[in-house]
Amino acid sequence: MKVISLRLAFQTAILALVFAAPGRAEVKGPTDPSPQGLQAKLTYCKTCHGLSAEGYRGYYPMPRLAGQQPVYIENQLRAFIERRRTNPVMFNVAHVLSPEMVAALAAHLKELNPAPYGGAPKGSLALGKTIFEQGLPESNVPACSACHGPEGNGKDEIPRLAGQLFWYTEKTMTNWTKERGHGSVKDTSAIMVPTTHDLSQSQIAAVAAYVSYLK
Ligand code: HEC
Ligand code: HEC
Repeated sequence: MKVISLRLAFQTAILALVFAAPGRAEVKGPTDPSPQGLQAKLTYCKTCHGLSAEGYRGYYPMPRLAGQQPVYIENQLRAFIERRRTNPVMFNVAHVLSPEMVAALAAHLKELNPAPYGGAPKGSLALGKTIFEQGLPESNVPACSACHGPEGNGKDEIPRLAGQLFWYTEKTMTNWTKERGHGSVKDTSAIMVPTTHDLSQSQIAAVAAYVSYLK
């Protein structure tokens, strides 16, 4: 009891400190995007990423951004700009965004919660679930849930996988080192290198299908 009440008191003190900063949320900085500016940019993102940012299977698979972790989104936009992550489309999109616009877009996208896009093959969902929850110890593959969370929601720089388009996840894991971690700086993409190498193509497809149906 004593420990709990001490912890509560501590948390309350921290909260008081955080919220004591005068007018924190209300005062807009001069560079914050206007509501119209933000809306126009979002409409642009959604022409590719889907009307509710649920993703879209076009000529390229467009990843779901809905419910994605804001820190991850900001990290990836920076990676496109610095060409650590290669994608010609997203370089052009990202390099014109102000940091304030990126923060506002990421905060908005986090709140969206459309149903998963669906359409993934259902033949290996059981294997996908096993890989996600337990990994494959015999191939040194860790459980995805250990980092991406038991429901695949991610946290901070670790992305949400729940509801992500099957075709996007499959392609991304297959091409990992071709698309990410370019340049001399080692970034967060290095964490996924051993895992993507140690999974076979059919195991990648199985886990990609499994996460695509998580809500
Ligand atoms: C012309 C189409 C197009 C537009 C417009 C577009 N994107 Fe993208 N975006 C893509 C494609 C294609 C990818 C997948 C890149 C890849 O395969 O690595 C992507 C990837 C991303 C990613 C990485 C997602 C992940 O899961 O790693 C983020 C973040 C992103 N886009 C944000 C945005 C934002 C924010 C906007 C609007 C300002 C936007 N995009 C507009 C096509 C587009
Ligand atoms: C040790 C922690 C860790 C484990 C275990 C892990 N991941 Fe990741 N994963 C990450 C991090 C960190 C990133 C972000 C990489 C970056 O910044 O480019 C990531 C990114 C990804 C992405 C890219 C998502 C996107 O939107 O582009 C996919 C797909 C992914 N992981 C799938 C998996 C799967 C499937 C497993 C299990 C087989 C797994 N991960 C296990 C930490 C982990």
